[in-house]
Amino acid sequence: MPRDVAVLVGSLRKASLNRKMALALASLAPETLKLRIVEIGDLPLYDEDLEGDALPAPWKRFRDEVRAAEALLFVTPEYNRSVPGALKNAIDVGSRPYGQSVWSGKPGAVVSVSPGAIGGFGANHHLRQSLVFLDVPVLQQPEAYIGGAASLFDDAGTLTNEGTRKFLTAFMQKFAALVETVIGPA
Ligand code: FNR
Repeated sequence: MPRDVAVLVGSLRKASLNRKMALALASLAPETLKLRIVEIGDLPLYDEDLEGDALPAPWKRFRDEVRAAEALLFVTPEYNRSVPGALKNAIDVGSRPYGQSVWSGKPGAVVSVSPGAIGGFGANHHLRQSLVFLDVPVLQQPEAYIGGAASLFDDAGTLTNEGTRKFLTAFMQKFAALVETVIGPA
């Protein structure tokens, strides 16, 4: 059975380059990984007063979907040199109640995607900072800062840039190897 990988996309917009990238990564991944996007756009902002009886249904849905996964892939834009609020909120929602984090111990990888030249480096590393605290062993190498992303896809959303396809295929193979190291062979 392939490993079940929850994919968190840091952009909410329909035409998102990051969502296109997430779908491209699903097709480039080796057979040992099965990627599925876990949606974050409907999550109310984290408020500890809502834990318990008032628990929002989307929080429960989200926590259940991530908890069921064996590994994590984050595909995110950079907003103001950091992680978009929607993704940070999802990370916070998944981290609570205290002691019941859905992230702990799951191997992860980060891909940042931007039309700009820096490829979302700031978001990528701010996200890694949170993942260290959340006890997510993150793929160290290769790093994936995907710049110039507006010209990587065709109108149908297919990743057409051959060099990027090759790089990301190798990236996903390395991620699959990390997943095996952390949780064992598929
Ligand atoms: C951006 N953008 C951006 N890009 C970047 O490389 N570094 C940055 O710090 C920012 N900051 C930023 C803030 C806000 C509020 C927005 C809306 C956008 C541009 C961003 O990379 C671009 O809109 C991408 O297309 C967003 O990713 P999706 O939605 O295409 O996946």
